[in-house]
Amino acid sequence: MENVEYDLVITNGICVTAADIASYDIAIKDEKIVLLAPSGSLAQAAARKIIDAEGGYVTPGGVDCHVHLEEPPLFGKGYSSDTYETGTRSAIAGGCTTIVGFAPQPKTEPSLLKALKDTHARASGNSFCDYGFHMLVGNPSEQALEELSTISGDEGVTSLKIYMTYTALQIRDDQILSVLLKARENRILTMIHCENGDVLNWMTDQLEAKNLFDPKYHSHSRPPILEAEATNRAIALSSLISHTPILIVHVSDPGATLRIRKAQTNGQPIFAETCPQYLFLTRDDLAAPGFEGAKCVCSPPPRDKESQEAIWTGLRNGTFTVLSSDHCPFNYDDAERGKKTCITPEYPVGRFKQIPNGIPGVETRLPLVFSAGRLALTKFVEVMSTNPAKLYGLYPKKGSLIPGVSDADIVIWYPEGKKPNITLTNEMLHHANDYTPFEGRKIGNWPRYTLLRGKVVWDRDNGGVVGEKSYGQFLKRGASTLDRIWETVEEQGPFDVASF
Ligand SMILES: *[C@@H]1O[C@H](CO)[C@@H](O)[C@H](O)[C@H]1NC(C)=O
Ligand SMILES: *[C@@H]1O[C@H](CO)[C@@H](O)[C@H](O)[C@H]1NC(C)=O
Repeated sequence: MENVEYDLVITNGICVTAADIASYDIAIKDEKIVLLAPSGSLAQAAARKIIDAEGGYVTPGGVDCHVHLEEPPLFGKGYSSDTYETGTRSAIAGGCTTIVGFAPQPKTEPSLLKALKDTHARASGNSFCDYGFHMLVGNPSEQALEELSTISGDEGVTSLKIYMTYTALQIRDDQILSVLLKARENRILTMIHCENGDVLNWMTDQLEAKNLFDPKYHSHSRPPILEAEATNRAIALSSLISHTPILIVHVSDPGATLRIRKAQTNGQPIFAETCPQYLFLTRDDLAAPGFEGAKCVCSPPPRDKESQEAIWTGLRNGTFTVLSSDHCPFNYDDAERGKKTCITPEYPVGRFKQIPNGIPGVETRLPLVFSAGRLALTKFVEVMSTNPAKLYGLYPKKGSLIPGVSDADIVIWYPEGKKPNITLTNEMLHHANDYTPFEGRKIGNWPRYTLLRGKVVWDRDNGGVVGEKSYGQFLKRGASTLDRIWETVEEQGPFDVASF
């Protein structure tokens, strides 16, 4: 074609960002959004390809910053059913164009850089979407803490995660303080899994002493107060280290939510994440007959209907910054690497404490929440794309539709009159897992097209996954830009133990 001005043009879409909803056309060149123009005005543009959105919504690609893929088994026998290849294939089919996975450092390994290198080796050349990593700190050794400046600088890994539970990863409060101090110096955002591990181990022993082993007791072993207590403690430790920013991951409990809200109201840099499992599942799903409940075993466990309502409210009123999947898939019918590894002749319905913790969800995150229709569309984009991009130092390259700067990462949804009527089954999905906890849900819309850096990678009606596993790029991330958090930290001055 002569005189091609654009690589791709999207016409007749209703574009949604975290700020606005408006009809306009989008022009794309060299992987970037280059122009937003009045609706219909680019219908005749000189472009290699034109997509008519037919009045459907057009949103920024999903940014899912809580995805576990292909991690070495740290918790007993369970091993992720998804590789980088299958997990990211699943991501683009559900409208997600960026994931941030984890680079796990085992307790026996003093170095973080080694764990990071190993994770790169697994992901490189195997990703359908763009990706970054969080450092998962299992052993905050002196060496590990010293390496954090290289990790956040040259390596572009500006977030880390620590755990207050799981024998393989739990660290003590004094170790948490050391991590927060170093994270603060290096402008690294600290993500914290807030459940009191000592208390839940004690609860577990009490249940087992009564011969209660079924999957549903997973929920009994982790009552809400144990999440709320740990959340409160994480907030206190953050404030002690001169208000170091933290993100409380996968919040399920209204009590924990309230503590987060109060800290935010006090001006503390406390951010929070929730997940679809706390909006769509309850503890009743863990009580399914036989061993079936294991399909919904994740931590914290899904709570009750009232809790779901409180979490929706927290999303609407800004308590939650981001809505991630916490994709962490284990096959159900798999006695070697999946949920059934905990079944033995002695324990015919398994032992809840040994069920690999986690569920798949990277593909269903956007469609489930979009179809539920319970968030304003601008809020949907904010918690699914824009805030995660800002929080993890990817904005405005990711998470928005800003001409000249944003990558052309875009989801086009079905318009009125063409909406699919979907009853979700696992066969529809593109992960490698043998079940979805959302089987049978009615879903009223689905990404019709997913674009990553200007290329159509998912075309639901013509070929499905049309991207390639070598197209996804590693994203070196900068410091978080959400709410000027690091500027605010600077204003607080450095941590000074003599000031207390
Ligand atoms: C926001 O939602 C949370 C969670 O439901 C609730 O605890 C809090 O009171 C709400 N805050 C306001 C100001 O409405
Ligand atoms: C969707 O399909 C189900 C049966 O599969 C049907 O009962 C329902 O009426 C359909 N809904 C719409 C909106 O077409």
